[in-house]
Amino acid sequence: MKVVKTIVELKEQVKRAKSEGKSIGLVPTMGYLHEGHLTLADTARQDNDLVIMSIFVNPTQFGPNEDFESYPRDLERDCKLAETVGVDIIFAPSVEEMYPTDGGIYIRAGRQAEILCGASRPGHFDGVLQVVAKLFHLSEPNRAYFGQKDAQQVAIIQTMVRDYNFPLEIRTVPIVREVDGLAKSSRNVYLTEQERKEAPAIFESLQIAKEEYLASRKVEKAKELAKKHIEDKTTGKIDYFEFLSYPDLKPITNETRDFLLATAVYIGKTRLIDNIIFHTKG
Ligand code: PAJ
Repeated sequence: MKVVKTIVELKEQVKRAKSEGKSIGLVPTMGYLHEGHLTLADTARQDNDLVIMSIFVNPTQFGPNEDFESYPRDLERDCKLAETVGVDIIFAPSVEEMYPTDGGIYIRAGRQAEILCGASRPGHFDGVLQVVAKLFHLSEPNRAYFGQKDAQQVAIIQTMVRDYNFPLEIRTVPIVREVDGLAKSSRNVYLTEQERKEAPAIFESLQIAKEEYLASRKVEKAKELAKKHIEDKTTGKIDYFEFLSYPDLKPITNETRDFLLATAVYIGKTRLIDNIIFHTKG
């Protein structure tokens, strides 16, 4: 496995792979790898000749009062883990390498970013699209891999790829969870012992909402029960708890068959997100 830190080096590797007719799979991450990231890499390994994983804590997707500075980082540990799943190239650039200049031209995520995490984190998805578009151009992947954990992120990236004709396929990988149901996240390390005990209530609440909706078809009732579960079982504060159609992220109607149930909860200072997708026949 090679660790490359510059764009020049990455492009050389990509050029070589292309000239050998190799297919390329890209796994964008912000590092501090856990099994969720490794499952993306593992899937990319099965589908492609060359697997590139980027590890870059992207400043442009963090708000001024968010955790860019304190976001966990450990490149050495990440490299060891990435190697175990057969990553070929780690691209770990500095901020200066990725953003040497600011020409004042930005990508705007638009309508799909006005809700859920986009509403609580203004500009977040613009920053995600900025870095993802750059990573796509730099690594020229045939396929890029994203987790369902960030369902809104993958829906927005899909839209950019479709509407701006990026020549690649987006593949989505299911959420990897701890045994007690908590979705794996680099941010879970922020939780105190007590908070970690409370956190599985987030996934439980999503399941409660789904079951209630399937039984009664009443969105508000389902949301109420789910929110009550979080309030009873945690000291957390709910940022949002939403039912939407998927993948277009619109309010649900009688015709909706594909649902996204998504929530963000502050457990102490840590903002955790989780979601489930489910389908009805009619
Ligand atoms: P990061 O939070 O590091 O996540 C990288 C990828 O891993 C994302 O596609 C995310 O959805 C996926 N992932 C995280 N936790 C997961 C889990 N428990 N199960 C399955 N997949 C999981 O998302 C980002 O970084 C950034 O926004 C990025 C796309 C890299 C742009 O900077």
